[in-house]
Amino acid sequence: MSKPRNPPGLGDTLAQDHHRCDELFASAEKHAARGEWPQAQRDITAFIEAMNHHLAFEEQTLFPALEQVIGAGGPTQVMRMEHEQMRTLFRDMQQGAQAQDTQRLLGATETLLILMQQHNMKEENILYRLADQVLGAQGPALAGQFTQA
Ligand SMILES: [Fe+2]
Repeated sequence: MSKPRNPPGLGDTLAQDHHRCDELFASAEKHAARGEWPQAQRDITAFIEAMNHHLAFEEQTLFPALEQVIGAGGPTQVMRMEHEQMRTLFRDMQQGAQAQDTQRLLGATETLLILMQQHNMKEENILYRLADQVLGAQGPALAGQFTQA
């Protein structure tokens, strides 16, 4: 019936990691807007590393486990496509930071912020909840495998 709240479930673990990535993103954006490039570049590197780790876990571990239950070609396929859109924007961010081009960087972060907010909301409100429901004991086991980058 009711699930123990400890250890944290897979959905909670991944939602928490979304928030950590969001904080790195906000810090990068703030420093870039101020022209504080060394810090902005460090934050961008940390943000992209954290995101790549998160996206890879979803694509290689979470989605395949879910697809065993719900089949491929549904919501996980949409999430994979959105991940690719994000990766393109990560590259734009990196290039903007390397060129110390505020306009280019903030153009990329503006688009990425909207995409990430919508994507993360869909995952947290729909996909992670579904995973917690359908994966059974596999959910907490996968949560245990997830380590932050
Ligand atoms: Fe995702």
